[in-house]
Amino acid sequence: METSQKLKILVVGSGGREHALIQKCHQSPLVGAIIAAPGNGGIAAEASCHPIEVDDLAGLVALAQTEAVDLVIVGPEVPLSLGLVDALKAVGILAYGPGKDGAELEASKVFCKDFFARHKIPTAEYASFTEVPPALAYLQEHPPPIVIKASGLAAGKGVIMAETQAQAEDAVRDMLEGGAFGSSGAEIVIEEMLFGEEASIHAIVSDEDFVCLPPSQDHKRAGEGDTGLNTGGMGAYAPTGKIDAELQARIEANIIRPTLAGLKADGIDFRGTLYAGLMLTENGPKVLEYNVRFGDPETQVLLPMLADDLVPLLIASAKGEPLPKKVRFHDGAAIVVVLAAKGYPGDYPKGDHIDFPKSIPDGTAIVHAGTACDQKGQITTNGGRVLGISAQASSLQNAAQKAYELCDQIIFNGKYLRRDIGHRELNR
Ligand code: AMP
Ligand code: GLY
Repeated sequence: METSQKLKILVVGSGGREHALIQKCHQSPLVGAIIAAPGNGGIAAEASCHPIEVDDLAGLVALAQTEAVDLVIVGPEVPLSLGLVDALKAVGILAYGPGKDGAELEASKVFCKDFFARHKIPTAEYASFTEVPPALAYLQEHPPPIVIKASGLAAGKGVIMAETQAQAEDAVRDMLEGGAFGSSGAEIVIEEMLFGEEASIHAIVSDEDFVCLPPSQDHKRAGEGDTGLNTGGMGAYAPTGKIDAELQARIEANIIRPTLAGLKADGIDFRGTLYAGLMLTENGPKVLEYNVRFGDPETQVLLPMLADDLVPLLIASAKGEPLPKKVRFHDGAAIVVVLAAKGYPGDYPKGDHIDFPKSIPDGTAIVHAGTACDQKGQITTNGGRVLGISAQASSLQNAAQKAYELCDQIIFNGKYLRRDIGHRELNR
């Protein structure tokens, strides 16, 4: 095929997820060129980067038109919730991801919980509030431990796990009266605290058709042994043995299929990624939340496990066409370890030079999450999560060993990583 006949793809976003998507798309024989907006220091080596922010819908649509791209892959939730896919569709540009209506599943926890109730999808008991007095009355009847959540997008921070009545009441007042999380906290969900192990299922969806990627687990806390502050994710691995074939079939039958049927019944033509955050409780799996995009850093392990070309899957989903019947995955396992800047998820320095090894072993990848490229062409730190080091191998043990060996060869000031990614699976 001539290069001119090959596809030109625009990837929207600037993190590790987007870099992993670009690395995977570059493996596709269908793809000619990839551009990114805004991208990052590492992405720039593989895709020309355009300085347009992810919430600048008009700018992104104009870029897609000027560059005559064949497909836009939208990484983060913010542009999806603003309606980027609808805006692109309106000018005839194919885009992967749900429209604004489908993105409500992630953008509004109240919408999502009401959706679960309407379609009988297993989840934590809940109620939603916009006023303090009824919320406090509900807390009297539902003593701690209890979970208080800002309804809107809060970059993973709007969830308070209250152990005492005072913590619960403070969280309610902070969100509804104190402006914590801004307009995202103007409406809240109070829900039952669930106990168990967490795991995620990612499905690529086209209407009621779907393909599940291997079940994964991420590591949200900053410290080893799952201690310390919540982060965007310090590492992930797939598959997790916590979800065997039997449980996977139950999750598909009781959660994924009813969700897709519910979306259709509600008049939402869902296309894109459905990412279920699950709690595996004694009473079966329950959905904690839905996201409508690929997880970060989960993408960095899910895509290396995919043996087939990703691009035809994304195109079929974007067009609302049936997905390929048989999708192949590699045996073995994949892991990603995040190299963060010391201080993350609090304040951290930027602009530190990063030293990389001259070459990396087969089956490993260096994914850039928060990097910049300075005037001399050198890569520097530019975010809290700086890099993701991923490895795929015949077993999780081997993958972890490969990934950590590579982690140790990458050097920058204040490099911080967790040494126990995959610990639950490795100790099973
Ligand atoms: P969410 O953004 O709703 O996924 O919440 C973020 C994190 O908070 C989850 O990954 C869980 O670790 C925790 N969480 C949220 N809701 C609950 C719940 N009802 N019970 C226990 N943990 C929860
Ligand atoms: N790793 C969690 C997320 O992407 O939301």
